[in-house]
Amino acid sequence: MSERQTDGSALRHVSNIYYRGPHYDRRYATYTHDIDFWRDLAHDTGGPVLELAAGTGRLSLPLARLGLDVVGLDVAPSMIEQALAKRGPTGPPAFRVADMRSFDLGRRFALVMLACSSVCHLLDDADAVSCFTAVAAHLAPHGVFALDVATPAHEAARADGVLKDRFRYPDPATGADIAVRGRRRYDPATRILTDDMDYTFTADGRTEHAHRTSRMYTTDDLRPLLARAGLRLTRAYGDFDRTPPTEDSATQILLCAHDAPSPRS
Ligand SMILES: C[S@@+](CC[C@H](N)C(=O)[O-])C[C@H]1O[C@@H](n2cnc3c(N)ncnc32)[C@H](O)[C@@H]1O
Repeated sequence: MSERQTDGSALRHVSNIYYRGPHYDRRYATYTHDIDFWRDLAHDTGGPVLELAAGTGRLSLPLARLGLDVVGLDVAPSMIEQALAKRGPTGPPAFRVADMRSFDLGRRFALVMLACSSVCHLLDDADAVSCFTAVAAHLAPHGVFALDVATPAHEAARADGVLKDRFRYPDPATGADIAVRGRRRYDPATRILTDDMDYTFTADGRTEHAHRTSRMYTTDDLRPLLARAGLRLTRAYGDFDRTPPTEDSATQILLCAHDAPSPRS
């Protein structure tokens, strides 16, 4: 198996406390509403499954418990360390530190998934096409590439530039609360959303700053980028219960396939 290493630029966006494995898991402990959807989809494809931007294995781990061959890939070493700590000494899932914009695992998958709006880490068209091209190279001839992404209008509505309380969670080290205040801005011209957050450790008053940049995508934005990588949209849902998308949908769930299935397996 060969893998290209990340060039480091992706790490700039994730090397802060927001993407520190133990902190991510405490922060997202109650984010579970998407798990059944991904479990059902993975089960239907029968595997193998590749999860891009797999983080701490929040989804890869339950999918592997279905008995499927699962590989989780993420650029942030701290996230993969946490995934491995939860998994134990042997897989599945297998976890790899790699950049989703440029990876080569030397095999193909029945399902390639990019969950939890992680496509928003692709900050321009070139990054998106590069990632989708790598996806196409890893997708079995009749495989499914699936992603979910928050609807830009929904996210932009919350990006008012005002400093406010954002969230709290227990510090994995001490159990005392970490209180997060932040300011969110959105530039409609670039579709870039910027979060500046201050994490205050209530145990000792210490603070850590996290800067987070992400790019918003509509389904119509994604369609031509997928096409440039030889992928096409085959189905869209507006929620994890598989209801059709509407103007009010907070999320977009897209299923894609090869434009023309390749003869190679
Ligand atoms: C919102 S988290 C989602 C994690 C996991 N999929 C989940 O559902 O909990 C986004 C993840 O994308 C990863 N990420 C960001 N840029 C990446 C890149 N270029 N290649 C691979 N992973 C990346 C981050 O390290 C982070 O773990």
